[in-house]
Amino acid sequence: MITILITGASRGLGLEFTKQYLNRGDNVIATCRQPENAKELETLQKDFGKNLEIEQLDVTSKKSIADLYRKLSDKSIKINLLINNAGIISGNEKEGPPFGELNKEDFSKVYQVNTVSPILISEKFLPLLKDVNEPKIVNISSMSGSISNRTRSGGYAYSSSKSALNMMTKTLSNELKEMEITVVVIHPGWVQTDMGGENAPLELESSIMGIIKVIDSLSIADTGKFYDWQRNEIQW
Ligand SMILES: NC(=O)c1ccc[n+]([C@@H]2O[C@H](COP(=O)([O-])OP(=O)(O)OC[C@H]3O[C@@H](n4cnc5c(N)ncnc54)[C@H](OP(=O)(O)O)[C@@H]3O)[C@@H](O)[C@H]2O)c1
Repeated sequence: MITILITGASRGLGLEFTKQYLNRGDNVIATCRQPENAKELETLQKDFGKNLEIEQLDVTSKKSIADLYRKLSDKSIKINLLINNAGIISGNEKEGPPFGELNKEDFSKVYQVNTVSPILISEKFLPLLKDVNEPKIVNISSMSGSISNRTRSGGYAYSSSKSALNMMTKTLSNELKEMEITVVVIHPGWVQTDMGGENAPLELESSIMGIIKVIDSLSIADTGKFYDWQRNEIQW
């Protein structure tokens, strides 16, 4: 049994991670911006009781990050796995503005959530990952962040936020290698969620089942790699 902290667990991939880890008997700290509106997490709480802790965390808020860290460390909670999953496609949560209408506010919002928050959260929660069995940090990136695979135009803020997340992850993996903390980025596939849309070819359950298998298989030898949900390595 391991303990997993997940960001953006109110819906989409984060909620499905929570469900699948709980179903196999792990402990989950499911974090979200507005726990009072996270009805599906509340329902899971009834079934899984103490194994599920629902906590408030806006990944862009320094105070929110500090409050949660203090709360967990006061209770001497350790985590084996941190999943930085929360993400946005644009500042208004729809497709980003097209070329010709780009604006710095949109870039700023997307970078805050997708790029800056994962590294700041990893830095803050690092003490909770020390002295546990096989500690891991998984940042949910995207094929859109792969420069080598880029063929389309548009999506400037989102795709570059994920490229930068990839670089942050690689750098962090070097930072934490001596501590034997495995750090990777994973592309979940194009998945049916609010972000992925209903035309996405991949069902949520399959994507998360695949990612959990990949995470289980990781060792320190894999640190600093970019995988997809089926453990294919992706070119940067
Ligand atoms: N779906 C895909 O096809 C796909 C493909 C490649 C990569 N990804 C990546 O997978 C991850 C999850 O995506 P998804 O498809 O599950 O998206 P989603 O359905 O839109 O869910 C996004 C989640 O992120 C949370 N979030 C957004 N801003 C936040 C903030 N400031 N603080 C805390 N939580 C915040 C949302 O919380 P609220 O409910 O409070 O808004 C929600 O729980 C993202 O990093 C995304 O880039 C998805």
